[in-house]
Amino acid sequence: MQPSSDPSAWFPVMLRMADAPALVVGGGQVAANKVRLLLGAGAQVHVVSATLCAELRQLADEGAITHKATHARPEDAATLLAPRYRLAYLATDDRGLNSALATLCQDHGIPVCAVDDPEISSFITPAIVSRGAVQIAVSTGGAAPVLARRLRARIEEIMPAGLGRLAAFMQAQRHWLREKLPDPAERRQLWERFLDGMGGHLARQGQTQQARQELDSLLANHTQRGEVWLVGAGPGDPDLLTLAALRLMQDADAVLYDNLVAPGILDYVRRDAERIFVGKSRNKHTLPQEGINAELVRRAQAGQRVLRLKGGDPFIFGRGGEEMETLAASGVPFRIVPGISAANGCASYAGIPLTHRDCAQSCLFMTGHAKADGSITLDWDAVARHNQTVVIYMGLSTLPHICARLTAHGLPPDWPAALVERGTTPDQRVITGTLETLPDLAVQQKASSPALLIIGQVINHRVSPVTV
Ligand SMILES: C[S@@+](CC[C@H](N)C(=O)[O-])C[C@H]1O[C@@H](n2cnc3c(N)ncnc32)[C@H](O)[C@@H]1O
Repeated sequence: MQPSSDPSAWFPVMLRMADAPALVVGGGQVAANKVRLLLGAGAQVHVVSATLCAELRQLADEGAITHKATHARPEDAATLLAPRYRLAYLATDDRGLNSALATLCQDHGIPVCAVDDPEISSFITPAIVSRGAVQIAVSTGGAAPVLARRLRARIEEIMPAGLGRLAAFMQAQRHWLREKLPDPAERRQLWERFLDGMGGHLARQGQTQQARQELDSLLANHTQRGEVWLVGAGPGDPDLLTLAALRLMQDADAVLYDNLVAPGILDYVRRDAERIFVGKSRNKHTLPQEGINAELVRRAQAGQRVLRLKGGDPFIFGRGGEEMETLAASGVPFRIVPGISAANGCASYAGIPLTHRDCAQSCLFMTGHAKADGSITLDWDAVARHNQTVVIYMGLSTLPHICARLTAHGLPPDWPAALVERGTTPDQRVITGTLETLPDLAVQQKASSPALLIIGQVINHRVSPVTV
């Protein structure tokens, strides 16, 4: 066989290796990496090398591999290649030896890979993403292995961890489902609905019984069942979206979103999904909460997969609890995906630790939202404590009142306080001061919503993160 440097000359296949003999020449870490892959596929691995690295030594001691402690030499090819190996890896650091052995392997009809040397190899190993039965192989035909690894990392990010469990579940249902639903097109449709809905999620989580119930009920109904996903979109920076949020944003038929969901984040929603703004701002509700609850139920009952996208985390001052209760009471299936709350996002991006061994052993999240008469009902003695950080959401308009109450309840006027405005976005601004000075600074610097108030000595430990 003539070696080829043409990257398009490679043909991707999956080779059955269970119980098949495989040869690895070389005993270093590179060889160990290949041995690990082969053992994962159930191969019987034989290693030829005078020395072994610690990992291979351990495998040999455990009997997981067989080992011949010798330098492989081309003149020993007859004995070396006598077993009918299904494939061979050459992982010595002697290119001349690798090349001679590669030729011999090919003469014996054994597919051979000299590691990192496609020119003398008859096969190459792709970058592999593996989730149980689901395997994705990425290859650049040896042209750019670093690029292949980079692509693999991206695929790893978007492949849910439970995909192997999902594949195993689907395999287990194949036979009976084929009998129940003989038409392949109908079966495909059912699986699509299963994967798009709760079923796929349950099977990925390993909740096989519930997943099976979901499949049964889809089969019984045959009509699309709607559901609602309450999803946290984080405080602004799209990089802070969770992978689960991203997946559901891609699957939704309709999205109901707040004004705290940044426009950059909506770009990640499936293009043909219907978008409904239900934003709330202080004293100005576009749709009252009861209306939002009813809309979620109405759409799900009409068979839609509804994404309820919320700024930050749905369960932190996000009224996610009320929406969840309504959905449960109406019998609508739902899922909740947490998000990075403004407190975490703003503190991190502003370089303010929320707890610190020296000065803050606890952290309190509270709302500064005032009642109609302008008062805030809080246990101020519990809030005005040393050794704790207080994070106040929706506290900009009541900032002077909050600072006055905290000093009245025992915190010194020079107690550190900071406002983080539009945290985690490119427009983030941090205003630092004290309980005494911050209200005036906020007015002078025209601070605006959304802004988060952080109070406590942790602010003295602030280090502005370097943006790269
Ligand atoms: C109704 S609460 C929603 C909180 C949200 N569920 C969370 O977990 O972050 C809205 C308040 O969160 C704070 N907030 C949300 N996003 C923010 C951001 N990017 N920068 C500063 N404060 C923010 C502000 O105090 C705002 O008034």
